[in-house]
Amino acid sequence: MNKSLAADRLSLGTCYYPEHWDKILWREDLLRMLENGIETIRIAEFAWSKFELTEGIFTFDFFDEFLEVAKETGMKVIFGTPTATPPAWLTNKYPEVLNAAMDGVLYCHGARRHYNYNSKVYQELSKRVVEKIAKHYGPHPSIIGWQIDNELNCEKNEFYSESDTLAFREFLKNKYQTLKALNAAWGTTFWNQTYTAWEEIYVPRPTVSNATNPHEVLDYTRFISDSACRFAKMQSDIIRKYMKKGDFVTTNGLFSNLDNHRMTEESLDFIMYDSYPNFAYCLGTDPEHSTDLNDRKWSRNLTEVRGISPIFGIMEQQSGANGWNTAMEAPAPRPGQITLWTLQSVAHGADFVSYFRWRTCTMGTEIYWHGILDYSGRDNRRLREVKEIDRKMKKLSGAAGTAYEAAFGVIKDYDNIWDAQLDAWHERVDKLSQESIFKAAQLTHTPMDYIYLRENTTAEELIKYPVLFYPHAVIMTEQKVKLLERYVASGGCLVLGCRTGYKDETGKCVMLKLPGLLQPLAGVDVTEYSFVAPDDGRVYLDWEGTKVEAAVFNDLLQPLGENAKILGTYISNYYAGCPGLIENSFGKGRVYYFGGVFTEETAAVFLEKLNIANPYKDIMELPKECEIAVRSKAGRKFLFVLNYGKKPAAIELKQSLVNLYEGTKEVGRIEMEPYGTRVYELN
Ligand code: GAL
Repeated sequence: MNKSLAADRLSLGTCYYPEHWDKILWREDLLRMLENGIETIRIAEFAWSKFELTEGIFTFDFFDEFLEVAKETGMKVIFGTPTATPPAWLTNKYPEVLNAAMDGVLYCHGARRHYNYNSKVYQELSKRVVEKIAKHYGPHPSIIGWQIDNELNCEKNEFYSESDTLAFREFLKNKYQTLKALNAAWGTTFWNQTYTAWEEIYVPRPTVSNATNPHEVLDYTRFISDSACRFAKMQSDIIRKYMKKGDFVTTNGLFSNLDNHRMTEESLDFIMYDSYPNFAYCLGTDPEHSTDLNDRKWSRNLTEVRGISPIFGIMEQQSGANGWNTAMEAPAPRPGQITLWTLQSVAHGADFVSYFRWRTCTMGTEIYWHGILDYSGRDNRRLREVKEIDRKMKKLSGAAGTAYEAAFGVIKDYDNIWDAQLDAWHERVDKLSQESIFKAAQLTHTPMDYIYLRENTTAEELIKYPVLFYPHAVIMTEQKVKLLERYVASGGCLVLGCRTGYKDETGKCVMLKLPGLLQPLAGVDVTEYSFVAPDDGRVYLDWEGTKVEAAVFNDLLQPLGENAKILGTYISNYYAGCPGLIENSFGKGRVYYFGGVFTEETAAVFLEKLNIANPYKDIMELPKECEIAVRSKAGRKFLFVLNYGKKPAAIELKQSLVNLYEGTKEVGRIEMEPYGTRVYELN
């Protein structure tokens, strides 16, 4: 799938809300944006009432007038469809369009994303408003693209309305045809859950101990994703009838319970992302947002985006403090951080970066979610920084269209992501390994990609990665096994962790010797397994002289077949002496089966031993605080160096490189300022 943004240079934008400001400000605002390097705005995504204040009566004057100003000033526009915020008349008259909490209580008007995707009324009214808007504004010369809705599945990614139950039944009928098949797939014989009529099935509801059938919840998550994808497709099909040739359809993500790959494939030209790295600095933030990588962790999200659209856009890039009046207290970006976060996006493949938002809103829930300007609109430090970013972006324009270079990949798939959400054992192993591998890659300066296994993934797409980690492929299917076999047989190196292959597609455990369907490829027999008990301390294995932690959960292994070789044995616990790491050669490639969860140190040992760590070490030496990302194409190579630290950082250029911001050659020790960025080109 190559659903990339096609741009011949890098450019900046911002989110603008004409409906929030006196018309008298429009022209001056747009001219000032243009003076400061902002050439595109996104508008209208919450403005349904400006088009249909009264049911069925459509008016276009407001945005006609605004678009006229855009045309006169030369501002380009991305137009949003307004379905994230249904008008008050709509939800009042048709409460069935509302989403509900799990106990069935409806969410009310007043915030956003309170609708459900499956209400027939909401679908009809959404179709109608999108059709009217697309038809009217589609030909406008200032419009260059369309945004569907806003952040599908943000804020609420679970749906429990009556419409959802009805649609869930249809989804299941389609999938299973008969109740017998459904009962078998969901294992309903357990705890006497057997269904005898489709009407007995609901979206998950409150249960004792929150113990909803896991196989049902897995299907329910697939159903939510399907609902969101269908809703996006409905809008995209309409927009495409009316938009000008060359315009694009996109939306801003990425949110969970949603197959973003499918949505992009079916409905978008490429995906956009909303990047708010300042979440890392929110006061009272949850520990998830305060690990030592802080804002650098957003590179992980950007890696996810790049896995969908190798070249993408940022629809909303942080430019001020975060804050709702009800939540999220965060500092303003420090001098240099807007540049750092913008360049973080560009380094990972964003050729368009649009700031949220131009001027900070003076009303409503988001009065503390700052934009580039404060309430008064006076010139400020952040605007000056944006202008300087534009100067830099112009110097980097050759980087547009270049591809991120990854030294290895991590395989993911939606079934396993969704299973890990509902299964505490699965989540525990997966969460740590995913964080650790990413962190090890960052801190050893080893760029990585995420690759999602999908129905149409080919071995050719995989083989460009010399090494692929598939840390805990709990749910395994014949189809995936075949693909992985082809990858390894043609020379790939696959790294598997504990708990591989013990579930089938329904999420039920298999009665096979583990790792189940992957036994032949892995050359491993898992004879026993256990969580590491709290009083076991840390469990290590000895990998040919290197001590490696096998954290959280341990599979006890035996080699299977003549090509399997024991590389490591446990050195502690009652299974000391038992194999914990096995290498199996298969065709031209090999598989490593590691019987634990990857810690950061363990992942770093793998990167080192598999010879993929720090591929740019001959070009430059970097301290841990700095990320390196390389984009290249047709012989040109752009090296992005990002200092996330509060303090200056020294890097060592081992060969002469062109500093693209300044157009000068540099070599040797370079001192980077706090939050500093550099982009070098190999000459
Ligand atoms: C995004 C959203 C914007 C704005 C921003 C700040 O998630 O798309 O509309 O709400 O967050 O809260």
